[in-house]
Amino acid sequence: MGAQWATAHGYREIGRRIQAAIDLERFDPPRWEERADAARRRGIRLASLDELRGSRDAAAFEALLHEIYEVEAEAWEDVPIATPTAHWGFDAFRRLLLEQPGNAPDLDLVAFDGDTVAGFTSSFRSRGGWKGGTGFTGVRRAYRGQGIAFAVKVRALARAKASGVRWMLTTNDEPNKAMRAVNHALGYEPLPATVQLEKTL
Ligand SMILES: CC(C)(COP(=O)(O)OP(=O)(O)OC[C@H]1O[C@@H](n2cnc3c(N)ncnc32)[C@H](O)[C@@H]1OP(=O)(O)O)[C@@H](O)C(=O)NCCC(=O)NCCS
Repeated sequence: MGAQWATAHGYREIGRRIQAAIDLERFDPPRWEERADAARRRGIRLASLDELRGSRDAAAFEALLHEIYEVEAEAWEDVPIATPTAHWGFDAFRRLLLEQPGNAPDLDLVAFDGDTVAGFTSSFRSRGGWKGGTGFTGVRRAYRGQGIAFAVKVRALARAKASGVRWMLTTNDEPNKAMRAVNHALGYEPLPATVQLEKTL
């Protein structure tokens, strides 16, 4: 109905963003242990942002944030979104990661190859902690296809579940096969898509 109205008024569909949810009551972390361990067997280790902050001085933590930001910048360019926007500046990234009420540094997982940040996933909590979601997941191009996104998401979901979160949400662009494959495998179920429309005025 809405789509018919939009088409009749000169709008055309340019993309779809699909929100998906996982019920952590049904998410069984041990089931994914072997597969999530593939990255570790390749030498990748994971640490959460709160652990990383607690284990280094302020200057080293800032340097780490800059590196995570660079990884995000590289991954941002590759998100197959119909309406690309410029990557935000470092200050906005830092504020969003550390200074929002819903920040969940225990669920922000960083993947390292030695001292190099290979990828990360960030999450948030809302509504009294029973619900949360993924902010962004990104892996450096050179490290893709090694199970790193899978590993950080499994760890984030396992930690979310252990801390009492029931539902985790995520939103992906319809053509994002790699991210949707990870989420689908883990048991995320799609909700109705947001249809992106465009009209030249
Ligand atoms: C999406 C992204 C995080 C995946 O990272 P990754 O570490 O390479 O992912 P993994 O290796 O854990 O797993 C990718 C899965 O998707 C599959 N996959 C990868 N590319 C695919 C493609 N083009 N078509 C179908 N499946 C694909 C892989 O086969 C793998 O599934 P499998 O384990 O069953 O084989 C990475 O590609 C990226 O940073 N992209 C840009 C940023 C982005 O889109 N982020 C998500 C939006 S928030």
